[in-house]
Amino acid sequence: MNRHLISAADLSLDDAVAILDTAEELARLAERPIPKLPTLRGRTVVNLFYEDSTRTRISFEAAAKRLSADVINFSAKGSSVAKGESLKDTALTLQAMGADAVVIRHGGSGAPYQLTNWIAGSVVNAGDGTHEHPTQALLDAFTMRRRLGRLDGLRVAIVGDILHSRVARSNVWLLHTLGASVVLVAPPTLLPVAVGAWPCSVSYDLSAVLPQCDVVMMLRVQNERMTDAYFPSVREYSRRYGLDDERMGLLPAHAIVMHPGPMNRGVEITADVADSPRSTIVEQVTNGVSVRMAVLYLLLGGTEAR
Ligand code: CP
Repeated sequence: MNRHLISAADLSLDDAVAILDTAEELARLAERPIPKLPTLRGRTVVNLFYEDSTRTRISFEAAAKRLSADVINFSAKGSSVAKGESLKDTALTLQAMGADAVVIRHGGSGAPYQLTNWIAGSVVNAGDGTHEHPTQALLDAFTMRRRLGRLDGLRVAIVGDILHSRVARSNVWLLHTLGASVVLVAPPTLLPVAVGAWPCSVSYDLSAVLPQCDVVMMLRVQNERMTDAYFPSVREYSRRYGLDDERMGLLPAHAIVMHPGPMNRGVEITADVADSPRSTIVEQVTNGVSVRMAVLYLLLGGTEAR
């Protein structure tokens, strides 16, 4: 495996399966009275977050602590970034403090890749602009495999604001590597121009797609990244691309409903669907800790999980 995790597209099938299998072993740790391993004792993991996060930041912190690493949480708000300090100077400061791994979330697509030029340790992309969010895709794949028993041959619909979604891009690449087939469902205005080069198909009709799905992954409408009107109204969007109880009834009985969070309840997904037994939304958060433990463990060259 590479020293860094920047893009899901960089993961080979062997890399991806190794992460999922390691996460499965590490998930058993949570069942112990003291869910901690000494594997990364003496190592320092820095969480460098330039954008808001709840799930990703907290789960990377929990993952590093469960592996006994020292954790430094850095938020751009309240730091010298607010005084104009550049990403490079911030990186050099972290490097001088001996960071073994830097987990970065940044609004600029490509920022984690740039960081690899300045950091001697590992860089993990925790979401960069509209580009990628590889650990989200890994925890999503882990959740699908746990719930449905396999990934090869699964039919997955990813629905909603694909244009602004780093989760969609990472999932398309990772699921393709793992042998699943992906259909993107969105209004034409919320699809990237380059989607024709992605290894997936496209539909504009959610109700027609659902009966063929094993997994439907609903995405948040990212109002904060929208500079224009991409659909006539929220009501119209929900009517055509939202998942409510009635539309969920079109899914096969075994199919699951996913969402990376945070959700806009009542926009892309109703509260009934989000809280239904088919929903894996809370499991995804739990699984995120095991998957991020596996990523840190494999990147930082941990020995055996004891
Ligand atoms: N799914 C996800 O990345 O959530 P946060 O923005 O809360 O980290």
